[in-house]
Amino acid sequence: MKKKYVMAPGPTPIPSEVLAEAGQPIIHHRTPQFQEILKASEIALQKIFRTNHPVIIFPSVGTGAMESAVANLTSPGETVLVASSGHFGNRWKEICQAFQVQVDHYETEWGKPIDSMEVQKRLKANSNIHLVFSTFSETSTGVRNDIQALAKVTQAQNALLVVDAISGLGAMPLETDLWGVDVVVAGSQKGFMIPPGLSFVSVSPKALEKSKNSKSPKYYFSYEKSVKKLVEGKSPDTPFTPAITLVIQLRKALELIEKEGIENVWKRHEILARMTRTAVKALGLPLLAPDSPSDALTAVSCPEGLDGGAVSKMFRDDYGISIAGGQGKLTGKIFRMGHLGYIDSSDVILGIATLEMVLNRLGKSVPLGAGVKTVQEIILKENIKF
Ligand SMILES: Cc1ncc(COP(=O)(O)O)c(C=O)c1O
Repeated sequence: MKKKYVMAPGPTPIPSEVLAEAGQPIIHHRTPQFQEILKASEIALQKIFRTNHPVIIFPSVGTGAMESAVANLTSPGETVLVASSGHFGNRWKEICQAFQVQVDHYETEWGKPIDSMEVQKRLKANSNIHLVFSTFSETSTGVRNDIQALAKVTQAQNALLVVDAISGLGAMPLETDLWGVDVVVAGSQKGFMIPPGLSFVSVSPKALEKSKNSKSPKYYFSYEKSVKKLVEGKSPDTPFTPAITLVIQLRKALELIEKEGIENVWKRHEILARMTRTAVKALGLPLLAPDSPSDALTAVSCPEGLDGGAVSKMFRDDYGISIAGGQGKLTGKIFRMGHLGYIDSSDVILGIATLEMVLNRLGKSVPLGAGVKTVQEIILKENIKF
């Protein structure tokens, strides 16, 4: 027997109540029954996105939502700024290039956060740039970027800000309306605790206006079409067939988040992230992003002689636990432990206890229990009950 655990920064574990929803008979989407579900989901999503503006639900993975932002906000030939801090941030550049959009690319050293002053400098240097793409939680490096600081700069320079919050939303606060973020994209298989297949996009009035004048091709991903259907009738609707079952699962997951309270969800992620980082440091391993770490995952640098891919392989093959290795130029150099979504302190204890065994077996000698002890200390000291 091998029990399976997912401790990756997506997909994340799914609560049994949410799984059970998928076993219900299908219902038709043009019914009051489904519209009620869509309405409840839309209201709950707005609370998590911290916005009063529409949040579109696309049947797509997160990259689809990223593509939708480029398709709706750009025109071929225009120049945009991509401020990236890793593999996923660089995806913005690739999508823009696919749409014949010119990119001024500011990329940090991987493991370091974006400097909003550099963004300001570049916007001031090129007054033709009116659009900035960036990332909240850079899942390839475990960096958290300061979106509030970035939004201050983009607003002052009269540029729209688009943020990939695919792994960050639901783990850490992102005040969309208050900070002035125009488009936030997210995905279902992360903090939302449901399977992959839905993406979410919040659209500010300015972004919606820009989408009406943008010349890049769009049809399925048109914000104008989707927002119109969301807001024009008595109940929210969709232009095409929604992923009905996933939306039903979403509604259940959103109920669970609402029951816990979004502030408590953020707090839980902050504590689980702190436990993981403290334990990793106690085992003598360096964090890849010590200065500005994401609460969704922890990226751990491998010391000389330790292969990050071997760590994640042994976790999976010998202990049934999926964590993640490095991506792109970090392949083999790091491993990443997720503490995102349906995760509690028992999961962290299991993850750290397994890490201690794996490190010893791969030749990096660490005292058994040294990391677990730090997690237990936080649990006891702070009276953690999850
Ligand atoms: C920050 C970030 N952006 C984009 C993506 C891509 O999402 P998807 O694989 O759902 O297209 C991911 C997935 O891990 C991510 O973490």
